[in-house]
Amino acid sequence: MDDLENRVAVVTGGGSGIGRALVLEFAAAGMRTVVADIELEKATEVAAEAGVDSIAVEVDVSDHASMTALADSAYERFGAVHVLCNNAGVLVFKGFADAIIEDWQWLYGVNVMGTINGVTTFLPRMQANGEPGHIVNTSSIAALGATGIYGTSKAAILSLTDALADELAGSPIGVSALLPGMVKSQIVAAERNRPSDMGRRTEDPTQEFAGLVGLDPALCARRVREALGTGERYVFAGIPEGAFDLETAHTRRFTELMAAIDAGVVPDQP
Ligand SMILES: NC(=O)c1ccc[n+]([C@@H]2O[C@H](COP(=O)([O-])OP(=O)(O)OC[C@H]3O[C@@H](n4cnc5c(N)ncnc54)[C@H](O)[C@@H]3O)[C@@H](O)[C@H]2O)c1
Repeated sequence: MDDLENRVAVVTGGGSGIGRALVLEFAAAGMRTVVADIELEKATEVAAEAGVDSIAVEVDVSDHASMTALADSAYERFGAVHVLCNNAGVLVFKGFADAIIEDWQWLYGVNVMGTINGVTTFLPRMQANGEPGHIVNTSSIAALGATGIYGTSKAAILSLTDALADELAGSPIGVSALLPGMVKSQIVAAERNRPSDMGRRTEDPTQEFAGLVGLDPALCARRVREALGTGERYVFAGIPEGAFDLETAHTRRFTELMAAIDAGVVPDQP
């Protein structure tokens, strides 16, 4: 997608951090925006910052009916959606041994089902529209490394993004995964939006770091806008130099996988 003027973008998690930056980047490119967030007040502030052709909608991405209502609102207001950013996400800093079932349910409900709800509610309408479009799913550098239960949810998003991109290849709708490293945001205070029946913790020791470290989210959003033009499948931003030894980890994984595949090959299988 090269020409963004007057096109319509829906950004989930648009009330804060990377989502807010995406909204402002798209608005600066002349797009009309739908700022969707579970925190309506923040979404309303961002829609006001973005300009007159923006609306704020309260949504819980983990709830399919709520996402359907979001799509209804977007199409009612603007008649089309061209860019969908499935960006809302939450973080649980735990490994398998420490995680309780509610950690998994909340994490996968928002991160994975939220992305799936976005695709299932918007893709058929975007396809029916017939115009060029793009879906951006926010994964994470954590998808590529051993990063506890959060990383597994982001790996699921990366995997479904690859499958979606393969399925839509050659169609007017492009697909990208955004894989941020460290970007300034409120993600470490994600617990603020955790429902009480999902095992909400009253104290979160990581919250004090909210908004302090990482790349300016505006630079992350600029990379996404560039990717809409180039069609890049993977968009990295804010990777601290030397912080992730991905080459070693992935070379080992690939080598072990290839050896294991070779060991599983059955010659002359009918
Ligand atoms: N900041 C980073 O360093 C970083 C790194 C890798 C990936 N990410 C991913 O980037 C995305 C954006 O996060 P961020 O860093 O800007 O954090 P953030 O907390 O600043 O923004 C996340 C937004 O999602 C909203 N949200 C949470 N639960 C929701 C729900 N159920 N329904 C709708 N909205 C909901 C929050 O209200 C918030 O506005 C997330 O998917 C996160 O996992 C962030």
